[in-house]
Order: sequence, then structure tokens, then C-alpha cells
Amino acid sequence: MVARNSNLAKLPGGYLFPEIGRRRKACQEQNPGARIISLGIGNTTEPLTPHITEALARAAAGLGTAEGYSGYGDEQGFASLRQAIADKLYQGRVGADEVLTSDGAKCDIGRLQLLFGNQVTVAVQDPSYPVYVDGSVIMGASGDFDSASGQYQGIVYMPCLPENQFFPDLGALPRTDLIYFCSPNNPTGAVATREQLAQLVEFALANRSIIIFDSAYSEYIADPSLPRSIFEIEGARRCAVEVSSFSKPVGFTGLRLGWTVCPRDLVFDDGSPVLKDWNRIMTTVFNGASNVVQHGGLAAVDDTGLAEMRRTVAYYMENAALIKRCLEEMGIESHGGVNAPYIWARFPGCKSWDVFARILNEAFVVCTPGSGFGPAGEGFIRFSAFGHRADVVEATERLKKLSF
Ligand code: MLT
Repeated sequence: MVARNSNLAKLPGGYLFPEIGRRRKACQEQNPGARIISLGIGNTTEPLTPHITEALARAAAGLGTAEGYSGYGDEQGFASLRQAIADKLYQGRVGADEVLTSDGAKCDIGRLQLLFGNQVTVAVQDPSYPVYVDGSVIMGASGDFDSASGQYQGIVYMPCLPENQFFPDLGALPRTDLIYFCSPNNPTGAVATREQLAQLVEFALANRSIIIFDSAYSEYIADPSLPRSIFEIEGARRCAVEVSSFSKPVGFTGLRLGWTVCPRDLVFDDGSPVLKDWNRIMTTVFNGASNVVQHGGLAAVDDTGLAEMRRTVAYYMENAALIKRCLEEMGIESHGGVNAPYIWARFPGCKSWDVFARILNEAFVVCTPGSGFGPAGEGFIRFSAFGHRADVVEATERLKKLSF
């Protein structure tokens, strides 16, 4: 027999979202007549916009012709798409050769963990998107799970709470090799200011750390004073990589298309470029994003596509405003939901999973327990603004009937 990977054995439970799905299913079985509404996983619900749909259909039809057929492409993606992302989404701040497209930000995070290996030390925002921690554990870059603290040994947790404006006290932190940082943040909906990101970059440069910056929700930033990319910050090219995605702004959650920007200036301590090794990883374990989907990505970043993207984002942000208003009427403290599609609600003195269970079993609404994102998420619930308008309205009506 083969010995089990001991790193997987360190994980105390399943991945957060399947666990939520399991509880939803159990609730449905107990209440077969109930119509359960999800404000849980950040899964997009609105149809693709016409311009993108046409581009996808054209590309798919082309594959059925001798002239339009293509097989494997470059692992890094279409040169045209890499150029368009650099020009349209980064205003030329990054080079097309520094953008490698992929099947999504989550998958890129997993491959970055492969790139950096298991000898690195890691810091994460607490709470944070579970892949940063779970993936690091699976790679072997952590010790065991400590059930008393809810933390893995060897991982540095940076508490991000309303009390510190969701930004860690960098002066109190030990040095780590990697710092995962997500803004707009999943799950808290907080967006780091330019000054905060400048502090983070300064901290990383001083410590010779690398920031893995997750900007998957950057299109949700409406306030022009807030940075959408770490590369808007001076010095970031020497200390950061950025992962991002078409999932949330244009609904490619099922289609799968994302990218990572790895600047040429970023080097390991032996002076070798990180980009060279990143390219080696991508060409070895990845075969390029789907060619059809890349045509969809090209449509998403042309002028028509960008205008449609803004409408999709605005739709979900109206949902966010409805959820925030509902919580306010209920007297529940909430954060986020202004430049991000997540609302982070506080239930003082309560356990997140208990609040989750009440909302599920009494209102038939699925949300996400804050503690699933890390110990500092205890006592919070995350509501996602992704959903059909009618469902969001009905969910808020049901929530208002509960009292906490
Ligand atoms: C979430 O709900 O946190 C995300 O949508 C999950 C994901 O993007 O993988």
C-alpha cells in the first residue's frame, strides 16, 4: 500500500464550500418543500453579455472549420490577450511578457505554491480565502493544525478586523518569505488604500519577502482613489506577483480564465528571475487556457466588453447595497459591500457556524460562516452579492424576519 500524504492528513476538515454544500443538502432533505437561496459561495449567476457570447460562439464554430481549427497553443496564452490585459487592465504598467494567462486565480495560487515549494514561511490575512492556507498546508509549508487556536503551526496569521481597518499591524509581524494579500478582500470586502499598500510593499522590500497579491475582485472598486493593482505602488515590481481573474467581473466562473503577472524585476535571493521559474512551472504542469475561452477574454477587454463588464459589476453591486441595507435595518454591523461584492456582518458573542445554521434552517438562506476563513472570522458571517435580483430581494425579506 502507499502511505498517505501526511500533509493532507493535517487538514482537519474538508474544503469550506463543499462542507457548506453538504449542510445545504441536509437542510433541503429535511425541508423538501423549501426553496433555498444562496448568498454563500461567490458564484456568478447572470448570463454572459452579448459581445462575449458572440465571441465565444464564433471561436467555437471556427474550431469546426479547417481554417479556424487550432490545437495546443502557447502555455502562456494568446499573445494578443496577454497584450490586451497589460494595456487595458494595467494601463501598460506591466509588460505582455509578464502576464501569463491560465484557468483561473485559484489554480494559479496552487501552482505558485508549487513554484515556491515547501521550505518557505508564509503569512496570511486572517480571515482569508482558504486556498492560501490549505494549499500551503498540502505543499508542506506548515506544521500541524492547532485546534485550540484554530491555526496551523508555522503559518503567520495577520488579524484583519474592523478595529484595525482590516489592515495588519506590520510592525508586530515576524518576517516571512511569502505574504498573501487580497484586496478587495475576500471575505471581508475591505479594500486596502494606496497608503496601506505602500506600507505593505515597503515591509516586503525591507524583509526581502514576496507578496502574492490577489486582485480577483479589482473590477468591483468604484472609488477611483483606491488601487486596483499592487503594481500601482512604487517598488511592487521588485516584491510582488499578482493573480487575477475574469470569473467575477464577467462571469467566467464556469468558463475559467485568469492570469498572473510576474514582473521581470522580481528575483530570488540567488539573483535568478522568478518569471523564468514561473514559466517553467506553467509549461510543465499547464497546457494553456482553452482557446475558445481566450477569445471570450479578448472580447471582455475590448471597449464594448469593458462597457458590458461595468454593467455586470453594477448589477451585483446593487445586490450588495440591498443586503447592506437589510442588515442595517436589522441593526447588524456590516463591512464591505461598497467596493467589493462581499458583505461581512458581525454577530457579537455568537459562533459563526451557529449563525449560519440559524439562517439556513430558519430563513432557508445559505451564507458563509466567517470562521471558515480563519480564526479571526469567528463571530462573522459573509454574504455574497452574487445572485439573481429577485432571489436577493426575497433572501433579505426572509432575513428581516429573524432576530439576533
Ligand atoms: C468564494 O466564495 O470565496 C469564492 O467565490 C470561491 C472561489 O472563487 O473559489
